[in-house]
Amino acid sequence: MSQDAASPLQLLVDERAAAAGVRLLLKRDDLLHPTVPGNKWRKLLPNVAEARARGLDTVLTFGGAYSNHLRATAAAGRESGLRTVGVVRGDELADRPLNPSLAQAAAWGMRLDFMDRATWRRRMSAEVLAKLLAEHGPALVVPEGGSNAAGVRGCRALGRELAESDAELVVVSVGTGGTLAGLAAGLAPHQRAVGYAALGHAPLADETAALQVEAFGRRTRNWRIDTGHTFGGYGRTTPELRGFAEDFRARHGISLDLGYEAKALHAVFAGLDGGAYRRGSAVVVVLAG
Ligand SMILES: Cc1ncc(COP(=O)(O)O)c(C=O)c1O
Repeated sequence: MSQDAASPLQLLVDERAAAAGVRLLLKRDDLLHPTVPGNKWRKLLPNVAEARARGLDTVLTFGGAYSNHLRATAAAGRESGLRTVGVVRGDELADRPLNPSLAQAAAWGMRLDFMDRATWRRRMSAEVLAKLLAEHGPALVVPEGGSNAAGVRGCRALGRELAESDAELVVVSVGTGGTLAGLAAGLAPHQRAVGYAALGHAPLADETAALQVEAFGRRTRNWRIDTGHTFGGYGRTTPELRGFAEDFRARHGISLDLGYEAKALHAVFAGLDGGAYRRGSAVVVVLAG
C-alpha cells in the first residue's frame, strides 16, 4: 500500500450554490481507494508503516458491530500482508450470525474478538490491552476510528492538498475528530475548517485538540466543531436527512454516507440558504468515506 495520488477536487454545479454566489467544491477522498474509505486510507497507511517499523506483523483495533473502521482495517491488512484483529463491542454478538459488515471483515482475514460492554469501557486500559496482546500476540494497537498520532499525521496530507486550492473554508464531518485534526494542520494560514459532529459527544472539541497536540505538539486555532446537525446522534437519521440525500443523489449522482457526509452537506446547504458564506468565496466539502 502506498499513497501517491491526491484525491480529486470537483466543482459541484448546483443552483443553490450559484444563487448564494458561492463556488462549492467536493474533495473526493471517497475515491482514494476501492475498499479502504478515504479517511481510513489516510489514517491506516501510516499505522501499517508504524507496525512494520516496529517489527510487528499484526494490527489490533476496535469497533462497533457496523464499524467502517474494522472493515477498512481488514482490507488494509489484507492488502499490506499484515494480520488484523478486530475487537468488537458486545459479547452477545459472538453467538449470532455475523452481520454483512463483520462478515466482510472476517472474509478479508480479520480475526474477530467480541468484548463485553463493561470491559469495553476500559478497553484502552493497560490491564485490558495486556490481556488482548497475551491472547492475540504482539500487535500495533490502533484506537477506534484509526485516530492516533500516526493517523492524524496521515490526514494532514488532505489539508496540504487543499492548501493549494482557493478555498476559504473546508467542511468535513466528525466522528472521533482525527480527520479534522490532521486536515486543519495541513491547511494554508488563511484557510479555516469546520467540522460537523455526526454524534452528540460533548468532549469532541477537546479530544480533537488533544489529537493535534499528540500528533503535532500543538493545537491549531483554525477550526471549530458544530454540534447542531447530528440528526439525533450516531447512526441516526431522519426523514428530512434521507430526503436530502436522495435529492442530492438525483441531482449529482453521488450517494452520500447518511451517518456522516449527508449531515455535513445538509448543514452546508442550510448555510447557503441562510447567507452564511461570503459571496464570491469557495467552500470545499470533504467526502471522507
Ligand atoms: C464518511 C466519513 N466522514 C467522516 C468521518 C470522520 O472521521 P473522524 O473519526 O476522523 O472524525 C468518518 C469516520 O469514519 C467517515 O466514515
